Amino acid sequence: MTTYAVTGATGGLGGAAVTALIARGVAPADIVAVVRDRAKAGALVDAGVDVRVADYADPTALRAALSGVDKLLLVSGSEVGQRLPQHTNVIDAAKAAGVGLIAYTSILRADRSPLALAREHRATEQLLADSEIPTVLLRNGWYSENYAESLAPAVATGVFAGSAGNGVVAPAARADYADAAAAALLTASAGSVFELAGSEHLSYADIAATFAEVSGRPVAYQDLAEADYTAALVDAGVPAAFAAVLADSDAGAGNGALDSTSTALADLRGTPGTPFAEVIAAALS
Ligand SMILES: NC(=O)c1ccc[n+]([C@@H]2O[C@H](COP(=O)([O-])OP(=O)(O)OC[C@H]3O[C@@H](n4cnc5c(N)ncnc54)[C@H](OP(=O)(O)O)[C@@H]3O)[C@@H](O)[C@H]2O)c1
Repeated sequence: MTTYAVTGATGGLGGAAVTALIARGVAPADIVAVVRDRAKAGALVDAGVDVRVADYADPTALRAALSGVDKLLLVSGSEVGQRLPQHTNVIDAAKAAGVGLIAYTSILRADRSPLALAREHRATEQLLADSEIPTVLLRNGWYSENYAESLAPAVATGVFAGSAGNGVVAPAARADYADAAAAALLTASAGSVFELAGSEHLSYADIAATFAEVSGRPVAYQDLAEADYTAALVDAGVPAAFAAVLADSDAGAGNGALDSTSTALADLRGTPGTPFAEVIAAALS
């Protein structure tokens, strides 16, 4: 019997990965959901999953949470700038607990990505290599849901703003990445590196056109200089540091950093991905 653990299991990706593991035949009792807030884990408890509480900042709790775990899906932390110490704690705890394999949710082409967001992922990949724990790298592209968050303001104003120029991206549904992570945990060999992306290659004008098609309202893409887009995000209430990271990611997308022709996502899952327009339509409803 193999015991699987998933961190960030109260989050979108981690929760969907637990669901996908169960759908792929793993008994809920063989899944450890690592969460920092048990109050959010009601659905996991109801599903029969073994819920254990550990914050990424708490090495002792992490070590206890990973006791008896054979394979771990380490979902990258969501606090940009804090992720390296957090991931260090998880990897150290996994080593101490004798975890046999870690699958880590990294970023597309982390080893050479120009995105500011890639730095912590690149450093985490190095930590994993140094740990000598067998590793699977899940280098995720952008979630389609990232764009779905822009749908409501874009429909309200008729403008979808960004700083990606004419660059194209290959986003995929978050649940598809989660399902691929589950498949990888079950089947992938140690040392595997998967560049994961959707099969549609969309410019931001294409994304605006999808917003218009789905909503029935006119939406046009407005390209801004990176500094102007950062300022627009700050005006919309995004904290300055994160606005800069988002605008940097858009500028990188403009240069192809979030595009890929890799078919690893569909290959791992054994099925084509969720169409971009379907994710956007779901956000509308
Ligand atoms: N590729 C992309 O487009 C993209 C987009 C967004 C994020 N990401 C990355 O992918 C990860 C997963 O995405 P997601 O959509 O699932 O994010 P999410 O819904 O925000 O979930 C993040 C999960 O991490 C947990 N977490 C955060 N800080 C923690 C800490 N200090 N200790 C323990 N758990 C902690 C959260 O717990 P709580 O539920 O208690 O908050 C939550 O379960 C993100 O964390 C981020 O690194 C990628």
